[in-house]
Amino acid sequence: MEQLSNRLCRYKNYNFLSSNTTAEYIESLQSFEIRDSDVFLVSYPKSGTVWAQQIIISIYELDGHVNEYFTNSQKMPWLEFTGGAYTRRPSPRLFTSHLSQVLMPPGLMDKKGKIVYLMRNPKDNMMSYYHFSKALADLETPESFAQFFQWYLTGNVPASSWFDHVREWYSNREQYNILFLTYEEMILDLKGSVKKICNFFGINLTEAAISHVVEKAKFENMKNDSKANYEHIPPEKFSGKFLRKGQIGDWKNTLTVAQSERVDQLLQEKRSDLPLRFIWE
Ligand code: A3P
Repeated sequence: MEQLSNRLCRYKNYNFLSSNTTAEYIESLQSFEIRDSDVFLVSYPKSGTVWAQQIIISIYELDGHVNEYFTNSQKMPWLEFTGGAYTRRPSPRLFTSHLSQVLMPPGLMDKKGKIVYLMRNPKDNMMSYYHFSKALADLETPESFAQFFQWYLTGNVPASSWFDHVREWYSNREQYNILFLTYEEMILDLKGSVKKICNFFGINLTEAAISHVVEKAKFENMKNDSKANYEHIPPEKFSGKFLRKGQIGDWKNTLTVAQSERVDQLLQEKRSDLPLRFIWE
């Protein structure tokens, strides 16, 4: 593995952005108390997290849960970032996380709480992560896509390896109350995905309410929604867009044939035993 950047900290071989958290804090989550009503959105970074966040928040708000916070990042904060006073939050608490399965609070393993695990095909995922790394001041800026490609494949980025993240969550799924969802199915059938999430939560929304959730989650609408588009981050910290392209297949504009084949080969080696199929275009 390439040397760890000094912008990253490490806990049990997993990398985090030093500006967000510490190894001690990640360790403390082992005693984080889970409530039955807790909801977690878990994903590897750049899988469409803020999109699913918008959907989950809208569903809960339409189900009558008033959240006193303003932006989506406050309404559904990242569990692993330091600074949250979560024990005082009223139920149902909504959380976001990029944590690997082994680092999540063990209380979730008793099928307490609900987890939506969102995945995206790794070629589009790495493209999105590459652009994000260039735009977020706290992240190491790659000199080229080829350099980032190496970092990504070796897990030398926050959240470590995509391959391990997906594998660990999927192979331990029986222990959790968990719904697996993909970015690609959300692109191809947003309404169907919203309904799937509602069913999983046991929340019955009217057709009109579901259409409202879908409208709010559409790329163009979210882009203009100041609570959801993360444009509150000052430009000196983040010079890009969370809602960048929002497409399947952008990797084709950048990955070489050899790079694409390398990803296919790794998928074959690391994940061929899992019944997961991705949509690439
Ligand atoms: P791209 O960079 O490929 O455009 P995350 O929220 O995990 O950081 O993921 C960000 C990715 O999700 C970005 O991908 C972004 O455009 C995409 N995304 C966010 N909201 C979306 C929406 N409403 N519709 C489609 N894609 C969306």
